Amino acid sequence: MIGLRGLQRSFPAPNGGTLSVLRDISFTVQSGEFLTVFGPNGCGKSTLMSILAGLDFPSGGVLEGAAELKGQIGFVFQDYRRALLPWRSGAENVLLPLQIRGVKRAEQKERLAALVEKLRPQLDLRQPIYTLSGGQAQMIGLMRALIINPKLLILDEPFSALDYGRTLALRQTLMQVAKDFALTVLFISHDLEEALYLGDRVVFLSSKPTSVVEILRVPFPRPRTPDLPGDPAFGALKLRALRIFERCQLDCVR
Ligand SMILES: Nc1ncnc2c1ncn2[C@@H]1O[C@H](COP(=O)(O)OP(=O)(O)OP(=O)(O)O)[C@@H](O)[C@H]1O
Ligand SMILES: [Mg+2]
Repeated sequence: MIGLRGLQRSFPAPNGGTLSVLRDISFTVQSGEFLTVFGPNGCGKSTLMSILAGLDFPSGGVLEGAAELKGQIGFVFQDYRRALLPWRSGAENVLLPLQIRGVKRAEQKERLAALVEKLRPQLDLRQPIYTLSGGQAQMIGLMRALIINPKLLILDEPFSALDYGRTLALRQTLMQVAKDFALTVLFISHDLEEALYLGDRVVFLSSKPTSVVEILRVPFPRPRTPDLPGDPAFGALKLRALRIFERCQLDCVR
């Protein structure tokens, strides 16, 4: 679906030089795959997702397939509050992409009702954004990304403001939604266990200037259940992942 080869992104540095963030990023995203991306603060994960979504541009390298997905990418931004319109209600934020596309009011309502049924957001969608908690606002961001029935769903640490119970529940819902809608998912996580639990593969990134350290395949079948992390085979995979993580750290020191 998407292919990246030697992708680069640098920015002008405050001292007049160049800050190399993404140095050499190569991997593919298969259609229908759940790919998690794991890497340290500041390595360029959000930058990479912005490039894939067409919100930013690479400085070099090859990016294939992303342009063809224009209008079919749902994006849950890391900075979830700034990505919402605070004066609008939750529902009016969720519906914004449909309103921009001129979808009829009746269809907007239908699609919102179907999404509420699926996600069970447990919040009053009539409330304005500025009255919502962080977790509630994050839920609105997720709903807004899904309302367009995207082909590709990009989630940039989407559960960071949710409590443990909501996180566990939403992980399950997300996996179910991805399956039901045959979504391709790119999910950024800081949490190694979460990256392994959710992903078909995990892309490990070094710190900047960033390259792909390894791509780990996660062999567990779906549906995955919350007791999977207690499975010895999961423990063994986590140990392998920890070794890769250590290599990521070494890459950073070099
Ligand atoms: N527009 C920009 N201009 C200059 N530097 C930028 C710009 N956007 C990002 N950067 C720099 O690129 C680097 C990567 O930023 P990015 O937000 O992509 O990291 P990240 O991996 O998502 O970090 P985090 O885990 O903290 O979310 C940082 O050093 C950041 O300061
Ligand atoms: Mg980020």
